[in-house]
Amino acid sequence: MRKNIDAGELARDSRFERRSAVERVSDIRNFNTETRRMDSQAIDLEERARRQMHGIFVGEIQALEGAGRTAFDFGTDEVPFELKLDMARQCWDEARHCEIAVVLNEHMGCEIGEHTEFTTLFEAACHDDPVFRLCGVNRALEGLAIDVFSNMRDLGEDMADPVMYFCEDWMLADEVTHVKMGSRWLREVTEDDPDRRAAALEFQKIVDRVFSLGGQRGETPESAIKLARQFREMAGFTTDEIDEIADIAADEAKRLAEMREAVGI
Ligand SMILES: [Fe+2]
Ligand SMILES: [Fe+2]
Repeated sequence: MRKNIDAGELARDSRFERRSAVERVSDIRNFNTETRRMDSQAIDLEERARRQMHGIFVGEIQALEGAGRTAFDFGTDEVPFELKLDMARQCWDEARHCEIAVVLNEHMGCEIGEHTEFTTLFEAACHDDPVFRLCGVNRALEGLAIDVFSNMRDLGEDMADPVMYFCEDWMLADEVTHVKMGSRWLREVTEDDPDRRAAALEFQKIVDRVFSLGGQRGETPESAIKLARQFREMAGFTTDEIDEIADIAADEAKRLAEMREAVGI
């Protein structure tokens, strides 16, 4: 059975402009990140929120596509049937999130396709090993979604926007469930295979690092996206794991600041 399709083959209309994970890393290294950065001082709070919202919208589409692939790609000889059911349930949630995101984009004055779509989430969802998919997508990227939704929810409060606040709050609740699924299946499927578990967790760290490269996430006053510790704990992350994500984020923020200084930006 075919388990991978190229991210370039995902069904999109002419409004969308796509960039791959590799192109994303090179954009960040070349400081070509203006389209999505939340911490740019050059743009106001509402514009930052709009850009972030568009990123969430395309992330929801890819989360739906990724969970759909995982439900379909593996037989019950490879994964427990209940894992497939969880992925099917996640598809339903993500489809609902896509609809919410379309309405929220409209509500915030952002057009579909206005900003670049990075396909990193879908690419992480194409790994040959389902446990790696669950670590890369459900734990790393949807863990990030927990941080983002929690921040967007607070932003909704700061902007006195109850529509944004409640939409983000609902989606946050679902994302906690999705991360929890990842934590559960990582634990159960690799119960007797510590090497596979360690390798999957390593993959999760790589994805976390790639998504910390912009230096936006962390726990310092300058961090545009704060780590949502309480919700991450609810989703099955240990304190040590959250500390490690904070360290990776701080590391990457420092590295980016040094690179900026070196080239005088
Ligand atoms: Fe979602
Ligand atoms: Fe999700």
